[in-house]
Amino acid sequence: DMTIGKICCIGAGYVGGPTCAIIAHNCPSIQVTVVDLSEERIAQWNSDRLPIFEPGLDDIVKGCRGKNLFFSTDVEKEIIEADLIFICVNTPTKNYGVGKGRAADLKYIESAARMIATVSTKSKIVVEKSTVPVKAAESIANILKANVKPGVKYQILSNPEFLAEGTAVKDLLQPDRVLIGGDQTPEGHEAIQALCWVYGHWVSKDRIITMNTWSSELSKLAANAFLAQRISSINAMSAICESTGADVTEVAHAVGMDTRIGNKFLKASVGYGGISGFGGSCFQKDVLNLVYLCECLNLPEVAEYWQQVININDYQRRRFANKIIESLFNTVTNKNIAIFGFAFKKDTGDTRESAAIYICKYLMDEGAKLHIYDPKVEEKQLITELTHPAISDDPSRVKELVTIHKDPYEAANNTHALVVCTEWDEFINYDYEKIYGSMLKPAFLFDGRIILDHQKLMGLGFNVITIGKRLQRPNVHRPYAQAPAQ
Ligand code: NAI
Repeated sequence: DMTIGKICCIGAGYVGGPTCAIIAHNCPSIQVTVVDLSEERIAQWNSDRLPIFEPGLDDIVKGCRGKNLFFSTDVEKEIIEADLIFICVNTPTKNYGVGKGRAADLKYIESAARMIATVSTKSKIVVEKSTVPVKAAESIANILKANVKPGVKYQILSNPEFLAEGTAVKDLLQPDRVLIGGDQTPEGHEAIQALCWVYGHWVSKDRIITMNTWSSELSKLAANAFLAQRISSINAMSAICESTGADVTEVAHAVGMDTRIGNKFLKASVGYGGISGFGGSCFQKDVLNLVYLCECLNLPEVAEYWQQVININDYQRRRFANKIIESLFNTVTNKNIAIFGFAFKKDTGDTRESAAIYICKYLMDEGAKLHIYDPKVEEKQLITELTHPAISDDPSRVKELVTIHKDPYEAANNTHALVVCTEWDEFINYDYEKIYGSMLKPAFLFDGRIILDHQKLMGLGFNVITIGKRLQRPNVHRPYAQAPAQ
């Protein structure tokens, strides 16, 4: 029987919340309940102020909530009643023990699987939606089988999520593809068909692809690794541009017009999250996950290849911070520096693995006084990131060095430099004449996202430094003919 009446989703985060809202919105006959251990998160999902910001999400949630979309902390009850369970819990990089700093931490997946095994009294389809290493579905199956109750049967599917934060609603409504992996057995095919039926309510058949479980699990890691690799590739080119006089935006344009390469995801910047970028949290964590997998499979050459994608990303952030310090006469100690943007990319309040964290860290290490403004990131979140032990070993120093502002003009007032860390649209149209007027001179502007009008800013008097391009002040023309005589 393929009918799905009730869906339970474990994990009410960036993936679980929006995904279930879209399923409820498109499948009026299915009752969808999102559960989480965090009472605070569930209370927020049930309030007027949702825990995450995504364009278009408020309307969709408000349209279905209380009808066929519910948010609850009663994890056991919802698991018992569900025909199909999505596991959407977090799978962060392990920060302890074996595989520390690289392997994905599967403890939340395991505890969700154990909970399902403990309470279920009827057969279920269990769908792994979290991003996991290859063969994680097998581990879930082993946990379920080892604890199974008589008469209960499970089918495990892999259904990785490809949404990008900031465009989650659009990505879920019109996905490039929906990927479903499952056992290549009659029961496996039946479970695959049941999940195809759910997506079939709004996704056309030719965009729903099915395959074996391992291919599906690996495809998610592969897709994120390829995307991250493009950004590291263009960022590597940006370093060459800065040392030569080439302009990375022009290079990306020329390269991207090759239809075999394509123009998307080729924007150099201070970190992941160029145009329509993927999750700041996901890229790093998923590529590290892949690297660790390769090492475990005894494929060191492959591991090293993908590790380099991470290394270039770290290098890019470090390089940008060094450029700030160098430009400010090699010292930023006690200098006021405004930071515009803290989210890992525009249109989200998510800060996980944001480039801004590292830029702030490097500047704090030098004793700079930071004045941070972001349109969406909450003050509490920002402080949590900056006081993380990997970023600062002394929370009182963060307090001393960091001021958070609600107004960008206030943040920039009386600073030596302004650093753009996130590509928020609103930054483009600020009154930079006013900002320049309020800053200490010489006033520096570092555009880490290549979004501002550099010629205009230089015309106002700013010293502008960006990525992948050396800027010349206007009216200063140095033809080759004036090269020093030999
Ligand atoms: P998140 O951290 O926002 O949400 C995970 C939620 O799961 C948390 O609210 C946590 O309290 C809850 N949770 C953990 N263990 C639980 C348990 N045993 N029972 C009930 N609730 C539990 O994570 P996010 O960003 O939604 O990511 C989830 C997964 O999806 C990860 O594997 C991630 O790699 C993947 N993913 C994330 C994307 C993104 O853009 N954020 C995109 C595509 C995939």
